[in-house]
Amino acid sequence: MKREYVYQAFERFWHWAQAALITLLGVTGFEIHGSLKFFGFRQAVEIHNFAAITFLILISFAIFWHLTSGVWRQYVPTTGNVKAQIDYYITGIFRGAPHPTKKTVLSKLNPLQKLVYAGLKVLVIPIVVTSGLIYMFYRYPQQYEIISLNIKGLSVVAVIHTFGAFLLAAFFVMHVYLTTTGSTPTANLKAMVTGFEDLPDEDHETPHTARNERKPELVN
Ligand code: HEM
Repeated sequence: MKREYVYQAFERFWHWAQAALITLLGVTGFEIHGSLKFFGFRQAVEIHNFAAITFLILISFAIFWHLTSGVWRQYVPTTGNVKAQIDYYITGIFRGAPHPTKKTVLSKLNPLQKLVYAGLKVLVIPIVVTSGLIYMFYRYPQQYEIISLNIKGLSVVAVIHTFGAFLLAAFFVMHVYLTTTGSTPTANLKAMVTGFEDLPDEDHETPHTARNERKPELVN
């Protein structure tokens, strides 16, 4: 095992800010939807709007950081080992089997994480953001006359937005559980707080333990 600096400062800030904002957007969103009672409807709408704008600003910085640091390459899905990773989570983990893939600084995500995170980044989050913006600018045509949208109704947009919110909520629950499956139950959590994690030595790598067929290169 070797102590490595796995998560850079911006990456950790982005991760926790995103987690807080999605939680706030989820709680206020489901209050607007009528499933929860917490802030009161009016305040829930105000907080949801404010958190949504903050989320958009965070997304802009995160896109810039992923592109300039080269870390975006780590999210490109690979075909190998996806089934091995699913089998590990369903049965292997309960038999004490070894992780089918090995985490390294340049390849932090296992094949299943790559697939799910890439799906969130290019599909689920864009759908929630786009439907949310349509929702926002349709709801207040008097306020934003120049950019208000001329669509018949919000029912389809609301269903799409809520569906995306359900996917994010389901991801959140699975994600929190899976963070406990590192070398110790809190190893992954501590790594995302401090940036450091104990990783297996590189030279013990076998063809089946490599996370990537081709290792991505980081610019910095
Ligand atoms: C930039 C991102 C987002 C924008 C612009 C946005 C915008 C909006 C707007 C304008 C509304 C309607 C508020 C009203 O009735 O006045 C809404 C509702 C809602 N939002 Fe978001 N939102 C965003 C992200 C999210 C996220 C990440 C979640 C969940 C994790 C979420 C969950 C919901 C839910 C469940 C509703 C209620 C839908 C309904 O029943 O009609 N939103 N959102």
